Amino acid sequence: ADERINIAIDGPAGAGKSTVARTVAAQLGYVYIDTGAMYRAVTLSARRAGIDPLDTAALAAHASGLTITLAPGKEGQLVYLNGEDVTAEIRSRDVNLHVSQVAASEKVRSLLVAKQQELAKDKGVVMDGRDIGSCVLPGAELKVFLTASVKERAQRRFIEAGSALGVTLEQLEKEIAERDRMDEQREFSPLKIAPDAILLDSTSMSINEVADAIVSLSRTKLAEAK
Ligand code: CDP
Ligand code: CDP
Repeated sequence: ADERINIAIDGPAGAGKSTVARTVAAQLGYVYIDTGAMYRAVTLSARRAGIDPLDTAALAAHASGLTITLAPGKEGQLVYLNGEDVTAEIRSRDVNLHVSQVAASEKVRSLLVAKQQELAKDKGVVMDGRDIGSCVLPGAELKVFLTASVKERAQRRFIEAGSALGVTLEQLEKEIAERDRMDEQREFSPLKIAPDAILLDSTSMSINEVADAIVSLSRTKLAEAK
């Protein structure tokens, strides 16, 4: 039987987590899980229902009634909210602007973390987010903290989605910096580097260089796990 490990990839917005995690998962034959998509789906649903993300009681009640599922699609992971495909809509600017408030809710986090741990229980998972190495999968055999300068991250996002989001590069950089600040300063499971995580600064690295580095680290960990 072949050994499998879990790989946790954390870091700020636009660091390249999802692109790299998807590539690494494909190379290893692992399952990729985008936990940010789950927080985004809860945010979309709450916004549609007119719930103030800062109203913690209303938000918690709303979130506990939702069914969020992830499924592999041709061009990456598909996200379903109560059976509806919301893959595109969860990337909207409105969701960008409110998701960190929703993700600050202790109740929302405990609901989603339980789901994420269930998905990773058989190993062979590459999971990306903010608190994977520190909270969701503290036992993950490989933990990577992927980062890049805020300028570079904003530029990447702008090239990827600037026109669809309807923002200037300057606005996007401000909004990303603000989301980083909220994610780093929240009370429950803030974005931080786990003590046993490997720090990778991708500012001047290509997607393939980062993916190769992580695959090579995973091979070392796999050899150790045997
Ligand atoms: O792709 P991007 O980096 O823009 O964000 P994302 O990974 O889709 O995550 C969106 C937001 O969800 C983050 O800014 C966090 O507020 C929250 N999040 C979190 O709190 N914990 C996670 N494990 C993943 C995302
Ligand atoms: O998931 P996260 O928010 O950390 O970042 P992403 O969505 O994977 O990457 C944001 C954008 O940067 C994507 O368009 C990637 O193709 C691009 N990217 C890049 O240009 N160079 C890298 N080393 C990593 C990502």
